Amino acid sequence: MLDKIDEYLNDVAQFSSTNKEEIEQFRIKYNSKKGILNEIFDQFKTVPNEQKKEFGQKINTLKQIVAAKLDELKDSDNAGVQADKEDLTRPGFPLELGSRHPISLVRNRITEIFKSIGFAVADGPEIEDDWHNFTALNLPEYHPARDMQDTFFIEKNPDILLRTHTSSVQIRHMENNEPPIRILSPGRVFRNEAISSRSHCIFHQIEGLYIDENVSFADLKQTLQFFTTELFGKSKIRMRPSYFPFTEPSAEVDVYWGLNSETDYRITKGTGWLEIMGCGMVDPAVLKNVNIDPDKYSGYAFGMGIERIVMLLHQMGDIRMFFENDKRMLEQFNAL
Ligand code: PHE
Repeated sequence: MLDKIDEYLNDVAQFSSTNKEEIEQFRIKYNSKKGILNEIFDQFKTVPNEQKKEFGQKINTLKQIVAAKLDELKDSDNAGVQADKEDLTRPGFPLELGSRHPISLVRNRITEIFKSIGFAVADGPEIEDDWHNFTALNLPEYHPARDMQDTFFIEKNPDILLRTHTSSVQIRHMENNEPPIRILSPGRVFRNEAISSRSHCIFHQIEGLYIDENVSFADLKQTLQFFTTELFGKSKIRMRPSYFPFTEPSAEVDVYWGLNSETDYRITKGTGWLEIMGCGMVDPAVLKNVNIDPDKYSGYAFGMGIERIVMLLHQMGDIRMFFENDKRMLEQFNAL
């Protein structure tokens, strides 16, 4: 009897197959109701007492290796089936990498440039109140300059609106901090404008603010010149007198783009100059509104639309492209 079990042990150890049918036969032979294992267990009763110990150990070993073999065959059976279906030597599918949106890329570049000369980034809410978006910026109610920025109001409460510029962040920052102040405020802004290739009702701005003792217009010009050199590689700028309620004097800044190609002629309308931002010295009335003493402190502010800068840098002709999320456009910025 013990010899018989040794034979079975050998048989089980040597059995191998990837054929489902054969494996099932093997299972039936050893492990089914009428299989060998049950048969031996039945015979256990008839084994003389002095042999019971050795006999018992042998059947248990047989039981374990049958189970282990069936497990192993089940796995190899699966692998066999898989291997039939799939070519494991085939290269995998490449993972598509995402890319940053061009607006974010250029915003980051601009913030890096200003960070390198001591500016920090400040944040504020997109849903603003009248005070921070208008009144504190020297735009009292009924001031005609409010029409410059077509505003989305929250219908039920005309005091609440979608910010029309990130100058609101500057007010919040000045309310809560003492000079010297050197901040940048990038963010989304909203204007009730018809959507076209040149304008959109949602766009992005980045504004800067510097308040300290003895800040002059020369400081402003020098800083902007540094900025245009870093960003565009162009250092020639000019400042044309302009008007903003919150700055006095105010200016529009043009950068000399040059007239070296047909595109240069087209985008500068033949002048070589491109307008890139508005700026000025912070109006003393604004400083008073945020409890900064205008006799002690002065400062400058500037603001630009990020879309416009991206369009210039990458020769893009239509602002709507930024909001369509067309992967063919976005993928071109993968490597940047
Ligand atoms: N807030 C102005 C705008 O949205 C831009 C600006 C900022 C102009 C700071 C001057 C100084 O058009």
